[in-house]
Amino acid sequence: MTGDQVTVTLIAAGWSLAVGVVGALVGWRIRRASIRWSAGLIALVAVGGVVAGVVGTARAMFLSPHDLGVVALVCAVSGVVSAGFALLLARTLTRSARRLRLMAATVGAGDHVRPPRNDSAEIRAVAEELTRSSERLRTSQARERQLEQSRRELVAWVSHDLRTPLAGLRAMAEALDDGMATDPQRYHRQMLKETDRMAAMVDDLFELSRIHAGALNLTLQPMALRDVVSETIAGATPVARSHGVEVGGRVLPDVEVTADAAALSRVVGNLVMNAIRHTPADGVVLVEGRTTGDAVELTVTDGCGGINPDDLASVFEVGWRGTPARTPGPDTGAGLGLAIVRGLVEAHQGTVAVTNHGNGCRFVVRLPA
Ligand SMILES: Nc1ncnc2c1ncn2[C@@H]1O[C@H](COP(=O)(O)OP(=O)(O)OP(=O)(O)O)[C@@H](O)[C@H]1O
Ligand SMILES: [Mg+2]
Repeated sequence: MTGDQVTVTLIAAGWSLAVGVVGALVGWRIRRASIRWSAGLIALVAVGGVVAGVVGTARAMFLSPHDLGVVALVCAVSGVVSAGFALLLARTLTRSARRLRLMAATVGAGDHVRPPRNDSAEIRAVAEELTRSSERLRTSQARERQLEQSRRELVAWVSHDLRTPLAGLRAMAEALDDGMATDPQRYHRQMLKETDRMAAMVDDLFELSRIHAGALNLTLQPMALRDVVSETIAGATPVARSHGVEVGGRVLPDVEVTADAAALSRVVGNLVMNAIRHTPADGVVLVEGRTTGDAVELTVTDGCGGINPDDLASVFEVGWRGTPARTPGPDTGAGLGLAIVRGLVEAHQGTVAVTNHGNGCRFVVRLPA
């Protein structure tokens, strides 16, 4: 490069740099304005930089005033035309931005969004992200609605189920108060039984609400499944005897499971009590446990005569108890037991399922070992 060329390069770079700096300052000032103005500014700075470079170096190029005028005119015309085109082209950008805004509004309204196909890569990426968010929002809203619905049903059922024993208790208390009760001893026993039943129900409700709120405080520790099962069977034996049902356990002593002791015994207890309640006299309930690969499997098999195949999927639902009529007899529950079982098992990252088996049904709980 000759000395002249170095001079011209430096002068041109200096002038273009000056225009660039001014452009950057203006860009910063209008950063909140429409994207169109930024696009126009980019075109102006590009053309303006060239014009400034040419005009600034005119003296070093030894241009005559006439030639300089022509160059300036050409630059000015091209500058105006390119800036105009830039503004025009920027309209696609503003349109894309408007489409994005509409999409975001659709997501907010919980409606289905369709990603645009003809926008630029970045806009499409944002649009796809919006589409995914909208799908997530829709599924979580559906889940929320379902939960809300089951919560409402639960409250309705529980109030119904509590009203009957409360009315009974009130009637018995009044009879005792009036001295009208012919057999006060029997009334007292009955009142104790009813309060126990209601206390158990309130306890179940509390457990369920803790499961739903994700507020379970599980203390996982390794334990022998056999101990949990034999304790539960011992506790259930009086009820089994009064039903004429035999309860047996078959768990090897080396089957170890990592679980919360109270939660696991509640799971086994609920399953065993259900099995006893639904097995006719002289029937058998069998609790088995084994290790299978990386899981521990606990099964409770009874002689209930089988569950209607259409109902197999419903038994774990809150409040489901087989019949639509909610008239509590002495032996009917609130339909909370299996929902609690499922909640506790899932809190242990396990699964629970039911199938019909032989002349009864079989509940299978799988817990990670
Ligand atoms: N072992 C079983 N054999 C046959 N049917 C069963 C068995 N266990 C549960 N079911 C059916 O599933 C329903 C729901 O059981 P779940 O334990 O959730 O409620 P529940 O026993 O009726 O009341 P709760 O357990 O709250 O006292 C029962 O009402 C019954 O119809
Ligand atoms: Mg039950």
